[in-house]
Amino acid sequence: MAALAAQWRKENKTVGLVPTMGALHAGHISLVDYAKAECDIAVASVFVNPSQFGPNEDFDKYPRTEAADIEKLEAAHCDVAFIPSPAEMYPEGFCTWVNVTAAPADRLEGKLRPIHFQGVATVVLKLFNLAQATKAYFGQKDFQQVQVVKRMVKDLNVPIEIVRCPIVREPEGLAISSRNRYMSAAETEEALCLSRALKKAKELAQTGEYTVAQIADVMREIVSEPKDASVDYAILVEGENLDPVPETDVVKPELWQDKELVALLAVRIGSTRLIDNAVLL
Ligand code: PAF
Repeated sequence: MAALAAQWRKENKTVGLVPTMGALHAGHISLVDYAKAECDIAVASVFVNPSQFGPNEDFDKYPRTEAADIEKLEAAHCDVAFIPSPAEMYPEGFCTWVNVTAAPADRLEGKLRPIHFQGVATVVLKLFNLAQATKAYFGQKDFQQVQVVKRMVKDLNVPIEIVRCPIVREPEGLAISSRNRYMSAAETEEALCLSRALKKAKELAQTGEYTVAQIADVMREIVSEPKDASVDYAILVEGENLDPVPETDVVKPELWQDKELVALLAVRIGSTRLIDNAVLL
């Protein structure tokens, strides 16, 4: 990867990187399409990064579908599939980490999954360096991840542009995710409550008549409907640092013209934890 990147640099080629953990789906392929449209070379990395999984998380169970991933990348005309091994990414003696200590990393996913963003920030910085990427493409579905990576790039002066790309959804509304395959057909049906809640939140926000608490309560009610749902959070935040917005504030479109108001959800349906979000204003 490094040798190819050095060659592209000599040829003045721009490189678009799509970091993934494999189990590729239409969401990932849309990122490859953006990279191809905007850069000379599109690289997709496939690496299930052990350092971003907590001890009780699904690292062992995480789907590994390398042959199918390569086929999908070929069909999307991705120029390079970079598939390093754990020993290449974390050789013996590895001891240097990107330590993300404050906003936007220290809340929500960062609080519930304490080492998660340190693992993400470290691995993506290594991938940016290896591919010498001009731009890197991330899906909005992991909204907080995109903000953490943007902050890291700013703080460490990494010469790369981070591009946030729209969430890709199933026709019924479910945000596409590699973890959707953990759910039964009945659970998949129940999981539609997330996109339903976000759609309702957007409608309410656009009226300019509801408080932050009222909108968050409506979302919470909708995602609590399935009997085996348990809600980690249903919250409205300011988009850059994911700071909570005061509950009594009335959500008025005119007050959100130069910043984003974002609704974030994390909900367990049975044993599958799903996240989803929408920019309301
Ligand atoms: O979003 C993911 O799949 C991962 O967190 C990433 C960005 C590939 C880092 O391992």
